[in-house]
Amino acid sequence: MGQVAMVSPFLPIAAQGQSTSEPKPYPIGDEDEFWKRIREDYALKPDYINLENGYYNFVPKPTLDKFIEHVRMVNYEASYYMRTVQWDNKQNVADRLAKLVNCDADEIAITRNTTESLDLIVGGFPWEKGDEAIYAAQDYGAMQDHFKLMAKRYGLVNKVVSIPNHPKSDAEIVALYESQITDRTKLIMVCHMVNITGHMLPIRKICDMAHGYGVEVMVDGAHCTGHIKVDVKALDCDYYGSSLHKWVSTPLGAGLLFVKKEKISKIWPLLAEHDRDPSDISRLNHTGTHPVHTDLAINDALDYLDLIGLERKEKRMRSLQRYWSDQLREVENVVINTPVEAHRSCGIANVGVTNMKPKDFAETLLQEFKIFTVAIDRENVQGCRITPNVYTSIAELDTFVAAVKTVAGRG
Ligand SMILES: Cc1ncc(COP(=O)(O)O)c(C=O)c1O
Repeated sequence: MGQVAMVSPFLPIAAQGQSTSEPKPYPIGDEDEFWKRIREDYALKPDYINLENGYYNFVPKPTLDKFIEHVRMVNYEASYYMRTVQWDNKQNVADRLAKLVNCDADEIAITRNTTESLDLIVGGFPWEKGDEAIYAAQDYGAMQDHFKLMAKRYGLVNKVVSIPNHPKSDAEIVALYESQITDRTKLIMVCHMVNITGHMLPIRKICDMAHGYGVEVMVDGAHCTGHIKVDVKALDCDYYGSSLHKWVSTPLGAGLLFVKKEKISKIWPLLAEHDRDPSDISRLNHTGTHPVHTDLAINDALDYLDLIGLERKEKRMRSLQRYWSDQLREVENVVINTPVEAHRSCGIANVGVTNMKPKDFAETLLQEFKIFTVAIDRENVQGCRITPNVYTSIAELDTFVAAVKTVAGRG
């Protein structure tokens, strides 16, 4: 099934007595049966219904087994592996990731996560005193913090917009960012999918507007690879960062960074790599000796994603979200903090109840109804973020919907 032939001087799997038995087949032609079979690939804790897959979209058993094989193989081959095929293997995986997001192989770097990917750009951007950047109050905290650090260190001026939960149009969002542009603006950071609401923003339109002013755009796509189709060429963004341990379901500590070819040389590396050509993207992710078995497992996670099919997964994730949110939108005391138009969200959405603070709501869902979510209480978002996964069943969502109705009904 794998599209990338991994180079290895040994035969680690067979040689080490791993099971080579064929996995149970995945039913063709019946969607319900297919998703039931996918569910069997996940070791689920019986203690609660997990509707908080957005933090770490944990690994299905076929990928986990392969990952453990890689850990064993690297531990067996040790320095020999590191000195022989380490870099070829890593490049093979990077090539495959480039295909996933539709860029050239020399525009992609494997990182440890979105934080590293985006902070490499924010921290390595050639800021001059008085330069300006724009981002949103709903953006991820770590990146906002890095912009604030640049303000302290280089005199960068940060302009912060606030994204409405229910925009009237794409134009409204574009105008929001445009309103903060001055002749000192250098970079806009924008979420492809806002993590606290699941709101998907009109990236291409924002890029077109920004480029018209000579401003670059860095996209936070932490929740997008492996969840929706990501095409960085079509988006025409300058930088794109994503975590692979979210929706690509790799083991922890895998991410990607896309940098448009002509922008690579202007970014300073955070950890020095002085011998390479300035336009070589590998200059930017020199992290020293690192867990190479995680890099190898990205390939297996991509195999699993192919087995499902990205388009099919996106459809499934959107339908799971709409299954619960459509039932709750009009319920008294319930507030859905995610836009209703289908193209503005996918698997993630946020729901609050007017009669309870988010923290208490999350606590009640867990203690009383055995449903695990995460409370969000910042800016214009008060509620619990709900992230099902490919294994989530309709029965679980029915339990969730009934729980929310019960809590909201308490007035
Ligand atoms: C929008 C967004 N950006 C960045 C991150 C950081 O991701 P990581 O912790 O994998 O670096 C997250 C994590 O949830 C996120 O949701």
